[in-house]
Amino acid sequence: MRNVYIETYGCQMNQADSGIVGKVLVEHGFSMVDSDKEADVILINTCAVRDNAEKRIHNRVHDLQALKKKKPYLKIGILGCMAERLKESLVKEDKVDIVAGPDSYRKIPELISQSFAVDVILSDKETYEDIIPMELNTDGISAFISIMRGCENFCSYCVVPYTRGRERSRSAESVVEQAKHLFDLGYRDITLLGQNVNSYLYKAGNKKINFAQLIVMVAQIDPKLRVRFATSHPKDISEELIDSIAKYDNICKYIHLPVQSGSDRMLKLMNRKYSLEDYKEKIRMIRNKIPDCSLSTDVIAGFCSETLEDHQATLDIMSWVGYDSAYMFKYSERPGTLAAKKYKDDISEEEKVRRLNEIIALQRDLSLKSNQKDVGKVFEVLVEGESKRDSAKYFGRTSQNKVVVFDKGSQEKGNYVNVRIESCTSATLLGSIC
Ligand code: 5AD
Ligand code: SF4
Repeated sequence: MRNVYIETYGCQMNQADSGIVGKVLVEHGFSMVDSDKEADVILINTCAVRDNAEKRIHNRVHDLQALKKKKPYLKIGILGCMAERLKESLVKEDKVDIVAGPDSYRKIPELISQSFAVDVILSDKETYEDIIPMELNTDGISAFISIMRGCENFCSYCVVPYTRGRERSRSAESVVEQAKHLFDLGYRDITLLGQNVNSYLYKAGNKKINFAQLIVMVAQIDPKLRVRFATSHPKDISEELIDSIAKYDNICKYIHLPVQSGSDRMLKLMNRKYSLEDYKEKIRMIRNKIPDCSLSTDVIAGFCSETLEDHQATLDIMSWVGYDSAYMFKYSERPGTLAAKKYKDDISEEEKVRRLNEIIALQRDLSLKSNQKDVGKVFEVLVEGESKRDSAKYFGRTSQNKVVVFDKGSQEKGNYVNVRIESCTSATLLGSIC
């Protein structure tokens, strides 16, 4: 019962959490294996943000039950947001052996040794800051560090405040120590993670460190270490943070600033706490202080009572900003959220799909236009690995988070190279080292 395989779904935060689970297990004498076939215990780290994410997990568990028929000693565990949301019902209905919520990862060795075990108690203190996570499925170049946990924004559509609990920040020292450790191991691109990094606040005695200060502390480790962050809530992104990004070359010129909708009426129903004008003002400030900054967003199509005018307003703000990329979703009602309790999910599935497709088509256009503007320019690119399509080429990213594919030359993974962009698609820049 010692070989464990961890499968991770959902966000980057889950990726980082799986590393924590891995480390806890290894410290208790377990071994991590690379495939479900070799495993005695399969842990699935899950996401509950949308219904289709959950459906996928139910199907995966169903498939794993077949493996369990051949290997009756196999244990299956559900971790993360879906564990927190569905609790014991996963044992009853999906026949899993272990259910562990996001604040129960220290107890996993103990849960594995019990016959059926559920631990979904949320904490307002747990940050796992003393655990340096294992790097699972890593390319050896980019890594994530979660700097805080939980969310208290209560956007009306979102299940996260219920599954991840109260907001709490890790100590700045522990973040810097982890970043230094990763740099020494050869990592060159680190993303600081939180549901809303702008509300990071670490208090020790009379000392207070906010996110704008923390990111500078990490950037100062070495100019060759790139620092990124996700996610920023538009209501909280500060001028001080934008100034920090502008000042340090190694803080990446890329901000993910989810707008969700372009309609003030929708933003109010979503409980986002900013108006479209507030959002535009933040974008103007970013553009003014960091002219080469790229921007991405999240948008939701077909939220409760969304009219065609509201939908058009979303398309309009996307064009106004000219996002470089976007994560686009159709609204999925989540039980227990404010929207599920107060509003009717009244846009038909067909209409949600139609609106989403319009949004996706527009974004493809915007991404292509943004990439076309880069043709002829030279960018510093961090070499991250071999191109999947062509082993004679490398891929890497620019500070703006755009993927660039180029001939290998005599370079190695982890090097910085200057690449002149010669052509592009809507997803990729193509160029040559110069
Ligand atoms: N339905 C659709 N999209 C959602 N998101 C969060 N909750 C929902 C939901 N119920 C999206 C938001 C958020 C991203 C992480 O997921 O756009 O920014
Ligand atoms: Fe959900 Fe809003 Fe928190 Fe993001 S900020 S996790 S959308 S509640």
